[in-house]
Amino acid sequence: MAGLTIALVVAVARNGVIGRDNGLAWHCSGDLKRFKALTMGTTLLMGRRTWDSIGRPLPGRRTLVLTRDPAFRIEGAETVHDWAEALSAATGDRLMVVGGAEIYALALPHADRIHLTEVEAEPEGDVRFPPFDRALFREVLREEHPAGPRDDYPYAFVDLERRR
Ligand SMILES: NC(=O)c1ccc[n+]([C@@H]2O[C@H](COP(=O)([O-])OP(=O)(O)OC[C@H]3O[C@@H](n4cnc5c(N)ncnc54)[C@H](OP(=O)(O)O)[C@@H]3O)[C@@H](O)[C@H]2O)c1
Repeated sequence: MAGLTIALVVAVARNGVIGRDNGLAWHCSGDLKRFKALTMGTTLLMGRRTWDSIGRPLPGRRTLVLTRDPAFRIEGAETVHDWAEALSAATGDRLMVVGGAEIYALALPHADRIHLTEVEAEPEGDVRFPPFDRALFREVLREEHPAGPRDDYPYAFVDLERRR
């Protein structure tokens, strides 16, 4: 769709881990706040397993859930069955791709922006962010934060924009 920006939003540890046991591998309230600020009012695209892990629609956002199951229906979200259907269902000027690993892999070749939270840790995990060529992107923001009472590890907000 012309004029649609594809943005990935992901929190990733130094070792590439993004999740464990269909949940997150850390507590980071700073990251959750940023996620909310970035996504409020937008359309989200998430995989069915990420949908299961959140378990409810996120207020103030439209949710598209990608699944191969044609019969899958959920209250408070819409289902889509491939990348093209996700694009045509997207409304507004941005589609926020919010994971997990399978959906990031699908979206990375199309990503205009990546909003990373780099978590300064090497946790155990069973899901990793897919490898991608960082040289294709330009770092336009880096904001470092220390660990705190509600943030297990130091972290940095890093925005990448695809070089044109
Ligand atoms: N750190 C972060 O920022 C972050 C963000 C999001 C998620 N996560 C973590 O990531 C983990 C989940 O990631 P995941 O990779 O296991 O699962 P996922 O990407 O959330 O969902 C995978 C599911 O999406 C559907 N799917 C995948 N590719 C498809 C395609 N080409 N066409 C149609 N449907 C497709 C399938 O659903 P069906 O099986 O229904 O067909 C598949 O089982 C959890 O641990 C979660 O907490 C972390």
